[in-house]
Amino acid sequence: MLGKKKQALVVYHSKTGHTAGAAEAVARGLESRKVKATVKRVSEVSPDEIRGYAMIAVGSPTRGSRPARAVRRFIRGLNRKALKGKTATTFSSYAAFGGRKTLRRMKRLLKRRKARVLPGVAFKAGAPLSLWKGPQASEKDVARLEELGRKLAKKG
Ligand SMILES: Cc1cc2nc3c(=O)[nH]c(=O)nc-3n(C[C@H](O)[C@H](O)[C@H](O)COP(=O)(O)O)c2cc1C
Repeated sequence: MLGKKKQALVVYHSKTGHTAGAAEAVARGLESRKVKATVKRVSEVSPDEIRGYAMIAVGSPTRGSRPARAVRRFIRGLNRKALKGKTATTFSSYAAFGGRKTLRRMKRLLKRRKARVLPGVAFKAGAPLSLWKGPQASEKDVARLEELGRKLAKKG
């Protein structure tokens, strides 16, 4: 049967562009599996908007081994059951350490809102404290992020 294309939201925060680039890679993965992906910054998404999406990928730079405040605020601003029945995943850029810890934090916040959360991807990019742009994500990490999008499409 010809159903409506499933929809995914890729929402992120980014200062020097690395997490923004990662969001595009996740979206390419989703689209390659016939899921319609909408990419937005957290500041552009209203909590009500979530309803229209079956899947959500949340990306944040690592800040003090945690997600950026804007991202924590965004997830906390969602209704208690806003993500019930939805599949979620996470991705985080980090310059030196704390990327996986950031993923765990985001996972916990998303689970509290009843999402089914798939394992995320932490990737190295950028400079400490984002004082300058720093190195780009490796090709291998870009491929991992695309794969993350494909996995989300498959499970969502
Ligand atoms: C306030 C602040 C705190 C940061 N804390 C960490 C950290 O704890 N660990 C780390 O590896 N990188 C840290 N970084 C560096 C960023 O995580 C890294 O440069 C990342 O690639 C930036 O992503 P973006 O280009 O999407 O903004 C920090 C950056 C800022 C601005």
